Amino acid sequence: MLRTADSPLIRALRGDRPDRTPVWFMRQAGRSLPEYRELRVGTRMLGACLDPALAAEITLQPVRRHGVDAAIFFSDIVVPLRLAGVEVEIQPGRGPVFADPIRTADDVARLTAIDPARVAEAAGPIRDAVGIVVAELGDTPLIGFAGAPFTLAAYLVEGGPSKEHLRARAMMHADPDSWHRLAGWLAQVSAAFLSAQIAAGASAVQLFDSWAGSLSPGDYRAFVAPHSHAALDGLGGVPRIHFGVGTGPILADMKLGGLADAVGVDWRMPLDEAAAVLGADTTVQGNIDPALLSAPWPVLDAHVREVVARGRAARAHIVNLGHGVPPETDPGVLTRIVELVHSLDRSVARQS
Ligand code: CP3
Repeated sequence: MLRTADSPLIRALRGDRPDRTPVWFMRQAGRSLPEYRELRVGTRMLGACLDPALAAEITLQPVRRHGVDAAIFFSDIVVPLRLAGVEVEIQPGRGPVFADPIRTADDVARLTAIDPARVAEAAGPIRDAVGIVVAELGDTPLIGFAGAPFTLAAYLVEGGPSKEHLRARAMMHADPDSWHRLAGWLAQVSAAFLSAQIAAGASAVQLFDSWAGSLSPGDYRAFVAPHSHAALDGLGGVPRIHFGVGTGPILADMKLGGLADAVGVDWRMPLDEAAAVLGADTTVQGNIDPALLSAPWPVLDAHVREVVARGRAARAHIVNLGHGVPPETDPGVLTRIVELVHSLDRSVARQS
């Protein structure tokens, strides 16, 4: 961690305004890169995640190509469940699919009887991959990540991807005891996955609660926030980023009482408004609209400049997209955004 302590990303997470505004992209390691598609031929997604040399190489590809200020570990939110022994596959073009959805109190009891310590025991390939990555990255930080309990439950309870996550949201109210047992267990599983990445050298972590925006503020506070807090608590001094989509109404709750050093904001809320809600003790991350990655460059250029300008209202800003890189994105556009963000800092520095 000392190696990366003065990097723009880690400084911004601590609340400093480094000379260079850090920029990275969610889903930067993946299908937008031809070199990724080439490496993945003949290997299933979860197989790739559990092959240390392959996962390390895929993690490093976007850092070499784009000059981003951080790597995000190539893995998936369902990997720790697979490590715990849960039967799950990732179907191309669809997402995670579970052989046995967790719908009843009995299902929850059976699942949560698995000792979360199994994740740490089975995480050898994760630790090996992270070790290879950090040795190559030098002073560029690696961000470790995990899925938040609600987003994981949204897949587990449904058995696969869903639009409104009705079954998970129904369980909260129909059987709150089972819900809390399930979410509490998922928090331990995600915490074990994060700990493995940190032990092997990750310098920061991000908790993905991608679908938290589907919850009412009352449900978020009562049924979800305590479990997300548990997933991120007890990781030592490693800085934490908390991300969700459509979280405008619950943005202040996403701070998790100050546990999150940075909160991710999607494209629906301007960053100066988000900064006003989050206050002076939280860094903002975001919020380029992924839809504009396919717009003519002058349109995207103006949008990125506006994002950076509004981000100045926060104590510190990490430039990112409001959600992941769409697979059809021209990777040259991502490189150009990195160059633009870095050049803007120099021009502002010259003026002051
Ligand atoms: O570059 C990175 O961000 C690192 C790797 C990463 C992946 N998944 C790789 C991946 C990360 C951080 C994730 C997190 C993840 N996985 C989330 C939270 C982030 C988000 O986007 O909201 C979620 C909800 C998942 C579950 C999941 N896995 C989905 C919905 C999909 C897409 C299915 C598809 O094919 O469209 C996956 C598969 C997946 N995870 C891919 C990658 C690169 C694509 C699989 C492939 O290349 O074959």
